Amino acid sequence: MADLDRFLDAVRYLTVGRPREAIEKVLIAGCGFCDECGALAEMFPSAVVTAIDILESNTRRTVAMTAEISDRVTAIQGNLAWLRKIAPGPYDLIVVRHPNLDEGTKNWRDSLKACIHELSAEGLMIISIYSLMEATTANQLVKAAGASLRVGSPYTSKPVALQGNDRYILAYGS
Ligand SMILES: C[S@@+](CC[C@H](N)C(=O)[O-])C[C@H]1O[C@@H](n2cnc3c(N)ncnc32)[C@H](O)[C@@H]1O
Repeated sequence: MADLDRFLDAVRYLTVGRPREAIEKVLIAGCGFCDECGALAEMFPSAVVTAIDILESNTRRTVAMTAEISDRVTAIQGNLAWLRKIAPGPYDLIVVRHPNLDEGTKNWRDSLKACIHELSAEGLMIISIYSLMEATTANQLVKAAGASLRVGSPYTSKPVALQGNDRYILAYGS
């Protein structure tokens, strides 16, 4: 299980002042090994969490890892670019943790745009990234899709771990 400390601290900071129950619908975009699904379901106990990944092996793993809270977590194998069709919003919180943009910028341009379109009016999209170059690309793609960066990035004073998970954390509203 990855160290989620810095990431979760930023999520807490960004949602401070909002009752936990106000976050009703959460999307984990590109859930991969689903480390963040359980932690976010725990942080927002009223939320219904949808985890999407293009690889079926990853969504199968998410189903297995979240079996105890299966009434609140749904894992869907699909392309985020088709989010409106496969799991429409509006979402109160969308999390894109370590998307690996360099594996396909066009793929993520379409996917991030689709995510922004499914964000609620008060919603928050949090992207967490390993490298500065990737963070710069993510910022350009999301801004081009019409969202605005919240001031104060990286929204946490927790130090970056040696291997650098969650080094650049960016949060957007619509
Ligand atoms: C590096 S992993 C990150 C996984 C997890 N969020 C984490 O922090 O450990 C990025 C994930 O995004 C998924 N992905 C890439 N493009 C996608 C798309 N268009 N739709 C859905 N998932 C996608 C990949 O299959 C991969 O599992």
